[in-house]
Amino acid sequence: MSIAPFAPSSRRIAVRPGGGEARLRPTAALRPHAPGGALLPVVGGELRVPLVGGGEARYANLDYGATAPALTTVAERVTRVLPYYGSVHRGSGLPARVSTALYEQARQTLAGFVGAGADHEVVFTRNTTDALNLLAGAIPAGAGQVVFLDSEHHANLLPWRRREHTAVAVAPTLTETLARLRAALAERPTALLAITGASNVTGELLPLPELVALAHDAGARIAIDAAQLAPHVRVDLAALGADYLALSGHKLYAPYGAGALVGRRDWLDGAQPWLAGGGAVREVTWEGTDWHDGPARHEAGTPNLLGAVAIAEACNTLDALPAGALEAHDRSLRDVLLARLTRIDGVRVGQIWADSEEAIGTVCFAVDGFEPGHVGAYLSAEHGVGVRDGRFCAHQLLSRLGFGGGALRASFGVGTAAADVERLADALARLVREGSRHAYAKGADGWAPLGDDRALPDLL
Ligand SMILES: Cc1ncc(COP(=O)(O)O)c(C=O)c1O
Repeated sequence: MSIAPFAPSSRRIAVRPGGGEARLRPTAALRPHAPGGALLPVVGGELRVPLVGGGEARYANLDYGATAPALTTVAERVTRVLPYYGSVHRGSGLPARVSTALYEQARQTLAGFVGAGADHEVVFTRNTTDALNLLAGAIPAGAGQVVFLDSEHHANLLPWRRREHTAVAVAPTLTETLARLRAALAERPTALLAITGASNVTGELLPLPELVALAHDAGARIAIDAAQLAPHVRVDLAALGADYLALSGHKLYAPYGAGALVGRRDWLDGAQPWLAGGGAVREVTWEGTDWHDGPARHEAGTPNLLGAVAIAEACNTLDALPAGALEAHDRSLRDVLLARLTRIDGVRVGQIWADSEEAIGTVCFAVDGFEPGHVGAYLSAEHGVGVRDGRFCAHQLLSRLGFGGGALRASFGVGTAAADVERLADALARLVREGSRHAYAKGADGWAPLGDDRALPDLL
C-alpha cells in the first residue's frame, strides 16, 4: 500500500492514493456536482415533509451526526444482494456461498478503506458502541490504565470507566490538552489512549499523528473513535501507525445495523469472545470449547450480511470521490453556516479549543431565551429542518461549554446542499427577530407545536 506523508495542516489524516484495496467503479453518483449542491445522492434526499398549519417543504436533514441517510449506491447494492441473501459461513446452497463471499469481501473493502495494515483485523460489530465495548473487554489484565478525555462521547468514555483509567479534563487549548494527556500517560503504566478523531459536539478535529506519537512514546496503544471522523475525513491506520479504530455504518451512509472494530490482532485473539455462540468456535466438547482466532472469535451468531455489504459499498462510493472533495464540501457548508450564525444576535456557537483549526460538518449552538427542544421543534414544524437537540451523549463536555441545559447541533454530509444550511440560518434569524408563528409547549415527549396538524406517512 503506498502512503503519502502526513501534512500536519491538512484535514486529510493520511492520504491513500487510489484508496487502498477498495476499487473505484464509475456510477451516476460520481458525476461532478453543481456548486452548492449535494456531493452525492442519498435516499430521501428529495423527501417532502408537512409543515404545521399546512404546506410542505423539502426536508433539510441536518442530523447526519446522529444517523446519516443511505447513499443511493448503498441502497441499490443492498437491493441487488437481497435475492442472494443467505447464511454466512453456513449453508451449502448458492446464496449461502455468495453471501459468505460477499461478507468476507466487505471485510477486505473496509480494511482497504481505513488503511488497515498487515497486523490489523476487521471485526464486524453492531456499531461504534459495540466495537469500543469489545475492545474494552480485550485489554489484557495488568496491561495498565486507559486514558481518555472527559469530552468524549459516552461510548468512548463509559466502557473505560469500568476499569483502571484516567479521564483527562480538556483544557481551553488543544496544545494544553495534549500536554495534559502526555502527563497522564506518564503518570502510570498505560495500556490504551482512547480518543475521538472528531468531536460529535463541535466537529473539531484532533491531531491524530501527534496523539499516536504521544501514546506510543508512553508505551501505550491508541484507539480512535472514528464514528464521526470516518464519514468526513479519510483515515489511514497503517500510515498513522494507529492501533484500533471503531466506526458505525449508520453514520457512514450505510444504515443497515453494522459497525466495525479494526485493530491489532493480538489483544483480540487473546480476549474472551465478545459473544459466546455458534460461529465463534472450532470445536465444542463436554470438557470445553476451542474458540476461533481472528474476527470469527468475536462474531458469534448469524452475521449481519446486509450491514457489512452496505458499509463496503459506502466505502467504495466515498473512495471514488475525487481527492479532497469530501473535505471541501464540508468546509464550504460549514463556512456558510458559521458566517450566518455569527451574525444572528443571541446565537452562540460552541467550540472546545481556542486553537483548533479544522472541523467536520458539525456545528453546536444555542439560542438565547429559547430551550433547545423548543428551537428544534420550531425548525421542524415551521421550516422542515431536522437538527438534534439535547446533550449529544457528551454531558460533561456540554457543561464545560456552558450548555449544561443542552444545545442544538446541525450536522451535515454528502447529501447536504448549501440551501439546507441557509434555510436553517434563515429560520433562526426569523425566530430571533419575530418569534415563531405557532405556539409550542413542552410535554412528556418534549417540545411540540400546539394543535400539531402534520400528517404522518402511512407507514405508521
Ligand atoms: C464520537 C462518537 N462516538 C461514538 C458514538 C456511538 O455510536 P453508535 O451510537 O453508532 O454506537 C457516537 C454516536 O453518536 C459518536 O458521535
